[in-house]
Amino acid sequence: MDLLLSTWKEIEAYLGHSKAIIVPLGSVEQHGPSGRIGTDVICPQAIAEGIAAGADALVGPAIAFGVCPFNLAFPGTISTRAATFMALIEDYVRSLARQGFERFYFLNGHGGNIAPVQAACQDLHAARSFNPQAKADRMRLRVRNWWEYPTVSRMRRELYGEWEGMHATPSEIAITQALHPDQTQGPRMSPPQRVSKEFLHAHAGDNHGSAEEHRRRFPDGRVGSDPSLANPEDGRRLLAAAVADGISDYRAFLVEP
Ligand code: NI
Repeated sequence: MDLLLSTWKEIEAYLGHSKAIIVPLGSVEQHGPSGRIGTDVICPQAIAEGIAAGADALVGPAIAFGVCPFNLAFPGTISTRAATFMALIEDYVRSLARQGFERFYFLNGHGGNIAPVQAACQDLHAARSFNPQAKADRMRLRVRNWWEYPTVSRMRRELYGEWEGMHATPSEIAITQALHPDQTQGPRMSPPQRVSKEFLHAHAGDNHGSAEEHRRRFPDGRVGSDPSLANPEDGRRLLAAAVADGISDYRAFLVEP
């Protein structure tokens, strides 16, 4: 079930049997020479729809904009500030919470969103603890990065090893290829650039710094990945695995005390 395609009567009826919603989080940013700019929202949106179909759940509108200031030197990238993104998350939750929604399952597609969505969840918990009247004790917020689902994580390692890299990864590109088969492989790419373990560690959560420096360092937008390994068949398998992992994780979330 999709909130944007529903009537308010249908949402009211849904609240009669579930107080949970899945919220895809993305970003609008370059994804290397072959990747679509919407990759980070296309992936969690499709996975969320699969989870909703398998677990009789509701998908809310994706928050397509994310925090990616380090990619602003690449044409087409649109970043929110972290504070804007947090405010969006908080307004989203507050709006639905007043109508009775209690469980928010954020399915994230972008590393730079991890810290701000977690911070927004902290703020929401803190705010409601000042308001004992709010039915807030029943509010539950869960954040998941689709690429960290256990089966997906294993497949990414098996399929691409270290060439999964950090950004414009073959796994995310493969999922978009499966969903949009007209996508070309893009231009021939130079050999991918290996990044060190130290770099991965220091830049976890897309902690990249200045946009100009980022583009100088990674001129075609890939960060340690080889997206030329992506293919639609891998994408279908990764998508199916993410949906299966997501359904069990979402079901566990529903019964989390
Ligand atoms: Ni991405």
